[in-house]
Amino acid sequence: MERLRTPAAMRAWADARRAEGARIGLVPTMGYLHDGHVSLVRVARGAGSEAVAATIFVNPTQFGPGEDFEKYPRDEARDLAMLDAAGVDAVYLPGVRDMYPEGHQTHVEVRTVSQGMCGAARPGHFRGVATVVAKLFLAAKPHVAVFGEKDCQQLAVIRAMTRDLDFGIEIVGAPIVREEDGLAMSSRNAYLSGDDRIAARCLSRGLFRAKELFGKGERDAGALVAAAGAAIEGEPRAKTEYAEGRDPVTLAPLSGRVDAVTILVAAKVGPTRLIDNITLGK
Ligand code: PAJ
Repeated sequence: MERLRTPAAMRAWADARRAEGARIGLVPTMGYLHDGHVSLVRVARGAGSEAVAATIFVNPTQFGPGEDFEKYPRDEARDLAMLDAAGVDAVYLPGVRDMYPEGHQTHVEVRTVSQGMCGAARPGHFRGVATVVAKLFLAAKPHVAVFGEKDCQQLAVIRAMTRDLDFGIEIVGAPIVREEDGLAMSSRNAYLSGDDRIAARCLSRGLFRAKELFGKGERDAGALVAAAGAAIEGEPRAKTEYAEGRDPVTLAPLSGRVDAVTILVAAKVGPTRLIDNITLGK
């Protein structure tokens, strides 16, 4: 597995793969990898990638003031071993100064889908995400890039950016990988200790309850969202940030009778912010 640390090194690798005629797959991450990340590598292969590059970069511009940028978990040696074992061909680990040299002043803003939900709770977050992903795309020159459905609004932002800026990259969404008790895997789960780890089940429990109701014929978006939200409200250690029903394709707000809906939730469990979602009827 090749280790690349600058945009120029990443571009050179991508140019060499393209010269060989290889289809390049890209898996962007912020590291501290878990099985959810590793599943994206498999999805990239399944999507026909002949050369797979992963990226590890804890992107400062997508963290707000007072958020966890400094304490975001990092373990490069372990991450590299996991990517190697997963069969990744190259890993791109740029430094903050490589990505944001003195005087950088350009960003990408995806307007509508960045608004509401995580965009409301974390002003500037999706601008940071869109900008860094654009930079990763331009350095790694992938044919296909894989993102987890766990970060549903992020996936919508990246799809919109890719379309609007003519990147010509196929964006593939990968299913949410969960712990045995239902908790969606996340690097931030490392923050959860003891009682908070148990309490964190309330997010997926609510979503599964909504799925059960949908299975029994409930089609009212408000009722389905309320069922998901109630599980979080009922957990004393958790504080709901949002629970919303959205169109699975456009993420536009939905109400009333629905044939298909994505329910997205965010909550703080103790000091830890967690998100999860489920799509019903598709
Ligand atoms: P990170 O949180 O490290 O996630 C990297 C990728 O892994 C994202 O596409 C995310 O949706 C996916 N992922 C995380 N947990 C998952 C799970 N349980 N199941 C399936 N996929 C999962 O998302 C980011 O980093 C950053 O915002 C990034 C896109 C790299 C830009 O900095």
